[in-house]
Amino acid sequence: MNSLLPIVQLGNPILHKISEEIQDVYSVKGLVPNMIATCEHVGGIGLSAPQIGQLVRLFILSSKPTPAYPDAPYIDSFAIINPRIVWRSDEEVTGWEGCLSIPGIRGLVTRNKSIVAHYIDLNGVEKEEKYEGLLARVFQHEYDHLDGRLFIDRTTTRNLATKLEYERIIAEKP
Ligand code: NI
Repeated sequence: MNSLLPIVQLGNPILHKISEEIQDVYSVKGLVPNMIATCEHVGGIGLSAPQIGQLVRLFILSSKPTPAYPDAPYIDSFAIINPRIVWRSDEEVTGWEGCLSIPGIRGLVTRNKSIVAHYIDLNGVEKEEKYEGLLARVFQHEYDHLDGRLFIDRTTTRNLATKLEYERIIAEKP
């Protein structure tokens, strides 16, 4: 049975720390299913290890349509270990983001439209993948967490909104 993990919230200094490379994939074999269960339980599309208090270079991508992300593609949740972004498109896109560690707040963030990343999967296999669209955005958001950077560090207060105002903005300009 998987356990739901408490999510570290903004204000906790752990969210600003740099995470360490994982030397042995087996050291996180037990953690990953609990991170996936936690991410899915709260309807998140990504969850990084620092957000559950572990300063290791690991995150979950969990893309599926949710009320907050109705256009998200359906992809089984999977673990990204020791990621490196090795290429970023010159083209950038600005879109809305939220964070499980910053409940109730959303913000417009400019990111590279597509990226190529290297990482290790949960079986210890090295992967190279190109990501576009929402997955590229989520990847960059979660990757930032491993370097202690939050989406609110990449925007300005004028581009932040509470849930109430975000819904009003979206209704006016879908
Ligand atoms: Ni986040």
